[in-house]
Formats: sequence, structure tokens, C-alpha cells
Amino acid sequence: MIILFSCFCYKHYCKSMAKRHCYNRDLEQDEAFIPAGESLKDLIDQSQSSGSGSGLPLLVQRTIAKQIQMVRQVGKGRYGEVWMGKWRGEKVAVKVFFTTEEASWFRETEIYQTVLMRHENILGFIAADIKGTGSWTQLYLITDYHENGSLYDFLKCTTLDNRALLKLAYSAACGLCHLHTEIYGTQGKPAIAHRDLKSKNILIKKNGTCCIADLGLAVKFNSDTNEVDVPLNTRVGTKRIVEEYQLPYYDMVPSDPSYEDMREVVCVKRLRPVVSNRWNSDECLRAILKLMSECWAHNPASRLTALRIKKTLAKMVESQDVKI
Ligand SMILES: Nc1ncnc2c1ncn2[C@@H]1O[C@H](COP(=O)(O)OP(=O)(O)OP(=O)(O)O)[C@@H](O)[C@H]1O
Ligand SMILES: *[C@@H]1O[C@H](CO)[C@@H](O)[C@H](O)[C@H]1NC(C)=O
Ligand SMILES: *[C@@H]1O[C@H](CO)[C@@H](O)[C@H](O)[C@H]1NC(C)=O
Ligand SMILES: [Mg+2]
Repeated sequence: MIILFSCFCYKHYCKSMAKRHCYNRDLEQDEAFIPAGESLKDLIDQSQSSGSGSGLPLLVQRTIAKQIQMVRQVGKGRYGEVWMGKWRGEKVAVKVFFTTEEASWFRETEIYQTVLMRHENILGFIAADIKGTGSWTQLYLITDYHENGSLYDFLKCTTLDNRALLKLAYSAACGLCHLHTEIYGTQGKPAIAHRDLKSKNILIKKNGTCCIADLGLAVKFNSDTNEVDVPLNTRVGTKRIVEEYQLPYYDMVPSDPSYEDMREVVCVKRLRPVVSNRWNSDECLRAILKLMSECWAHNPASRLTALRIKKTLAKMVESQDVKI
């Protein structure tokens, strides 16, 4: 009974939210005219300076979505597939959600369209679209495409020098700091917690900086109302799975650990990932190790904020003379 009722409420919520955000399926016939020669960057820059500040108008998003050719699949996650597609010759990434993952699609779309979300270290949102009626629904999220893939893929085939390490760490910290920062005012931005930050959800840009992706689990906090807005989907975080190379705790938990296994090791036994002694012989790596240790303190209150991490890394970047 409770399950049925929850299902009903969930369906109802999605439908009412879809209406509120004008993802009304009756609108499917309508199209916006996008003149030839306009690039995605032009369209987005225009909407940033003249629009609501939260992204492209919905009809323009729908038109872009309709005009995309899917080229090839580049990845697959727990709630959908990621494709490289083309819009009038420009490469874009298209995340196609499984029909059962409407809540993830909804949340991610909503977060990307939060006012003032745009930041060079947050994956660039282009459009979202929902098609179909009844039991068959197609859910799309269109974003910038980064051909170098995720940080996870990148680390498997690249050895970083200190410069590259700092560039990645600093740009990721800038993205995270932007997410966490609440900006006050009517055109402000709530504080946002990602809740699934991991190397698979960080994408490498061409110039060696990175951006944070995958906001389907994020929560928002607004200090005016003192309310935390939690998404409808129940998936939380990622259980770490050992693949080709060794991830933290590979020797302490089974290869597909349960939350209980991880809690036992991290919270009860208070074990932390083992770091090679080699790190102590390098000034930069020593500083990174200190920073990491301060992030994984047992007591949550003594862990560093994203802003503190960003500032510490900024100093290191400066002293290494890395151009960001
Ligand atoms: N904008 C993008 N540009 C290029 N590649 C991308 C982009 N977004 C995702 N990918 C690739 O697609 C893969 C799948 O992404 P997705 O977020 O669906 O799953 P995941 O992060 O790998 O796993 P999980 O389901 O645990 O989040 C990523 O690992 C990455 O290699
Ligand atoms: C991204 O990939 C391209 C082509 O594979 C390569 O030339 C470039 O150096 C890579 N960028 C980074 C930051 O590694
Ligand atoms: C990397 O590219 C972004 C644009 O995507 C740019 O804003 C940034 O300044 C560049 N950083 C470096 C170190 O070149
Ligand atoms: Mg992901």
C-alpha cells in the first residue's frame, strides 16, 4: 500500500513538475527557429546576457534536442547511456536516461538550470528534453562534449606531473567551491552539495583543467528558508568497485563492497587509504597529502571546506607557477 501510494505521489509529482517547468508533452509539435550560423556558444552567451540567467529558452532547447544526430555511444552509467552527438556539426554529449530514471533526469535538469550555475569548472549545460507519452518516455540531457573523457579514464592512461596534478585539483576545487557557495539576492544561487563526487563524474577539458558533472543526486540549501531540498531519487553515492588498477581500500574490502563494509572500514575502524612513502620526498605531494588528510578527518566539523581547499591549492599553483 505504502509502495503504491509512493509510486502514485512520485508520478504525480513528476507530472506536476513537468508542467511547472513547461516540459509539457503537448508542446512537442512546437519549434523555435534558430538561424543558420548561430553556434551553441552564441546562443548560450545571448541567453546569459538577455534571458533569465538560467539557460536557453525551453523551446530552443527542445529544437536543439530534435536536431541532434546521435553519432556513437561513449559511456554507460547506472541510469543511462552517454552518446557523442552532433548539432549542426558541433559535437555535444547526449545523456539518455533509462525510462525508470525520470527523477534523476528531472533533478539534474533542474540543478543545471539554477540561476548562476554556469561556471567553467561545471559541465556546460545546453538542453534537456522529454519525449513520448504513457509508459515509453525518452529523457535527454545535452551538455558540452569533452573528448578526453572522465578523470577516471584519464588517470588510467596518464601519469601526472605536479603541474598537471595541481591544474586538475585546483580547477576541480573551483568547481566544487562554486557549487557550495550560496549567492544571496533574488537572482541568487542556493548552496548545492553534489553527493556523488568521484573521478568518473569529473571530465577533462582539452587544456588540462576539468569540470564537475553528474548532478542527479545534488541537494540544495537555501539560508532564507533554512530548507534543504533533497531529490526524489533514492540512489545515494557510489559503492566503489575495484577494476583494473587499485583504488583506495582495495585490500580492505571485497571487490563490490556494501555500504556496511565501507562504513566499518572508514567510520568504525577509521582506516584511511594508504599513501606511498614516495609522496613524502616531494614538497608538492607532501602538501597534497596534508590537504587530503585534512579532508578525511574523522570528525566532519574538522574537515576542510571547498573554499579552504581552493585557497590552499591556489597558493600551491602560484608557487609552482602553473598557469590556470
Ligand atoms: N560530457 C561528456 N563528454 C564526454 N564524455 C562523457 C561526458 N559525460 C559522460 N561521459 C563519459 O560517459 C561515461 C558514463 O557517464 P555516466 O555519468 O552515465 O556514468 P558514470 O559516471 O561512469 O557512472 P555512474 O553511473 O556511477 O555515475 C563517463 O564515465 C564518461 O567517460
Ligand atoms: C586530449 O586528447 C587529445 C587527442 O586524443 C590530445 O591531443 C590532448 O593532449 C588531450 N588533452 C589532454 C589535456 O590530455
Ligand atoms: C582552459 O579553457 C577554458 C575555456 O574552456 C579557459 O577559460 C581557461 O582559462 C583555460 N585554462 C588554461 C590554463 O588554459
Ligand atoms: Mg557519472
